[in-house]
This record gives sequence, C-alpha cells and structure tokens, in this order.
Amino acid sequence: MTTTVVILAAGLGTRMRSKRAKVLHQAGGMALVEHVVGAARAVAPPENIVVVTGHQAEEVESVLAASRVRFARQTEQKGTGHALACARESAPISDLVMVLYGDTPLLSQGTLLHLRNTQANSRAAATLITTSLDDPTGYGRVILDENRLVSSIVEERSCTAEQRSIRLINSGIYCFRADLLWTHLREIQPNALSQEYYLTDMASILRGHGHRVQAMNVGNANELLGINTRLELADADRLLRRRKADELMLCGVTIEQPETVSIDSRVQVGMDTVIEPSTRLLGDTEIGEDCVIGAGSIIVSSVLASGSIVRPYSLISDSRVETGAQIGPFSRLRMNARIGKGARVGNFVEVKKSRIGAGTKSQHLAYLGDAEIGENVNVGAGTITCNFDGKEKHETHIGSGAFIGSNSTLVAPVVIGTESYVGAGSVVTDPVPDQALALGRGRQVVKTDWVAKRNKKS
Ligand code: UD1
Ligand code: MG
Repeated sequence: MTTTVVILAAGLGTRMRSKRAKVLHQAGGMALVEHVVGAARAVAPPENIVVVTGHQAEEVESVLAASRVRFARQTEQKGTGHALACARESAPISDLVMVLYGDTPLLSQGTLLHLRNTQANSRAAATLITTSLDDPTGYGRVILDENRLVSSIVEERSCTAEQRSIRLINSGIYCFRADLLWTHLREIQPNALSQEYYLTDMASILRGHGHRVQAMNVGNANELLGINTRLELADADRLLRRRKADELMLCGVTIEQPETVSIDSRVQVGMDTVIEPSTRLLGDTEIGEDCVIGAGSIIVSSVLASGSIVRPYSLISDSRVETGAQIGPFSRLRMNARIGKGARVGNFVEVKKSRIGAGTKSQHLAYLGDAEIGENVNVGAGTITCNFDGKEKHETHIGSGAFIGSNSTLVAPVVIGTESYVGAGSVVTDPVPDQALALGRGRQVVKTDWVAKRNKKS
C-alpha cells in the first residue's frame, strides 16, 4: 500500500506570542517541522511528503529545502481541514493519506509505522492516534461509542462541561483511506465559534457515511506533545535532548550527569567518547571515538577527529580538530580554525580562521587569526598575530619548526621562515628568513648601582 504524508505547517501559532511562525521555533536544535518531516520519512519517500505552508512560507520551505519534500500553499489560514484541502493538488495518488501537524516534534518513526500498519490491516476508513492525559487542556477530546470506535472529536472550545472532563485526546495524527478522505473532505463546514474548517470533523463525517474510524491508543503521551506555547516548547526541547543523550549512551558514549548536558538532535558522537557535565554539543557537530569533551565546553557545528581531547570550558565553533590534538582549558576556536594532529591549543588561546600544523603548540594566552602555521612550531605565551590594520585583514605565515618567543607581536602581512627564531617580546614587521633569529625589541640597558646614586642625590 502506498502512503502520502501531509504535514500541516501553515499557521502562525498565536499562542507562542512570536513574530516567527511556530513551526520554525527550535527544539533539540532543529525547527519543529524538521522533526516531523524526519519522522514522516519512516512511512514515505520525500516525493510523497507534502508540507502545507502559509505563514512565512518561504522561510519554512527554505528550512526544509534539503529534505526534498513537496510544498503546497495555504494563503489564508482557515483551519486544519482547509489546510489539508490545499494539499490535494500536490499530493501524489496513493492508497493511504497520513496527516501530521507540524507542531508535534516528538513523534517517533516507530509510532508512524505502527499507525500505517494498523490502518492498512483494518477495514476502517481512518485511524487516529489517541492518548489519555491527566491534564487534557487545549486538546480536542475523542468521543468513543460502545464499540470503542470514534464517533466524534470535539475541540475544547466547543466542549460541554461533561465532555471537557474526558481525558482521551486527539493527537492530531491520522491515517485515512485516500479515496474516502478526498471524497468527503469538502463536507467539512466552518466551525460555529471560530469559522475555521476543522479537520477533526472528518471523524463524524466518515461515521455519518457508515464508515468506521478507529482509535490507536499510545501509552507514551510525551511523543504526542503538540507545541502551542513557549512552556510546551521548553518541555519538548528537554525531552528531545534527553532522548538524544539516551540514544548516544546506548551506542557506547559515556555521558556524566546527562541531565546537565545539552545535545542537538543532529550531533554524532563515536564510541567510548566521554562527555563531562554541563557541556553543549550543537548544530552539525561530529565527534569521533575515544574523545573527551571537558566540563562546560560548547561545541558548535565542528568536527573533532577520534582521540581528540577538549579540556573544560572551551568554545569551539565551525572548526576542525585532528586526532590526538588537545584543546583547552579555556580555549576558543572559531571560523574554520583547523588544528592538526597532536597539536595543542591551551589556556586562553583564541584561534580564528587559521591552520595550526601537526604537533604545533600554543599553550597560553595567544591570539592567532588569519594565520597559516606549520608543523611543530612553538608559539610562546602572549603571542599576537596583528591581523587587522584598521581597514583590512592580513595573513601571518609561520614555517614548520619555528620558535616564536613569548609576548611576540607579529604584524601581518608577515612571513616567518621555517626553523627560525623570534626573540621574546619582539614586534615583527619584516619577513624572517628560514633558520634566522629575529629580534625586534629595545636592547636592555643596565645601570649598575643606580639606586645608591639616586639616594645620594636626594
Ligand atoms: C489541533 C487539533 C486538536 C488536537 C491538537 C493536537 C484541530 C481543529 N484541532 O489543535 O484536536 O488535539 O491539534 O496537537 O485540528 N495549521 C495550518 N493551517 C491552519 C491552521 C493550522 O496549517 O489554517 C497547522 C498549524 O501550523 C499547526 C497544525 O496545523 O502545525 C495544528 O494547528 P494548531 O492551531 O496548533 O491546532 P491545535 O489547536 O493544537
Ligand atoms: Mg497545536
């Protein structure tokens, strides 16, 4: 049986109180709607997934561009039933149509497969996922008949006092027989209170035509959390990050005090890596095997090869660290810093848009920006590459095996040759040839017995 998935993501999300469309808000480091598309991939290839966009449609479509799904536009937001009707033209012909809402990011692939199979193996016109909540506030209530089939769904605003006490809720996840859905969808009438076309009315419409609508109850209500407010967004974020940490631990990653660690959904971490407390691993970060990520470190969209070590309180973004390199404590790498094999970047060292060769050491208090540094270079404490002349950025090149004395000021553009030496405290403005010694500082003057002479004067 073929399945088309329609994801409704055209609403603004008034209850978020935001200028940004709700489905673009992030939980677990991804937009809400990206999570839903990820779950939908379990039951359909991208060309069979249609996302209905409306509010900030261009932004929503651009966030999903890489997933190669189809899009349909709902120019005016007239309710979930109307949104689904807008997808009809773009929806490929299939046996089943699964409808998901773009604001339910915790949905798992397993649950959607189960829903598809439950519907496919039944005589029902539709199956909808339900769960029982202690606090069902905000959700549509599901009314069952004596055979435990769905007779109707009533939105909270339209509930009688008795209906409001029903704890069985509509998750907003449905699987329909395509022929019956498309035939009867147009029968939805605007809701008396809101004038919106409610997709939930399909339950009673199908039933009115003598069809069965069944409920598939799911025990794990967390998975069905629909995000309507910032409070629910925070809950979803916490649950997604906990789920990610659990998944990594089951794959052989040690995470100390996982409740303090924050890992985005797309991050990859290899076996036997140890993640210390209060770290954040964000974006498209990839960490190899046998690494250590020190306490309090933040790693954003960076690649750390197997066996690299990050000591506590380091911030690494958009950078790459090779095997055996050690970073930190208190280091900052940014804008395509590339740290070679076995290199060391230590306390209070900032590296920006620079390549540090294998075995090179910069252990303390340095700024290395727009620099190409060879292998086995020793960069003394306090070394600064002066890369900015007030108007433009310039490069510093340091050859392999060079020794840069402490507190050197390298005024770019400048080239320092291989195996050369720069004396401590030098200001280097001219090229230093290979194997030369450059001294760029005032010669020391020593005045013997100076104190005694001064005392005599006074
Ligand atoms: C909806 C259900 C409710 C269910 C709950 C589960 C209806 C009428 N109600 O309520 O029974 O318990 O989800 O989370 O369906 N959207 C559009 N176009 C529109 C309106 C909405 O694309 O015109 C999209 C929104 O972007 C959102 C999704 O549909 O992603 C759901 O809309 P929302 O307003 O959050 O519905 P709920 O009030 O949560
Ligand atoms: Mg909702």
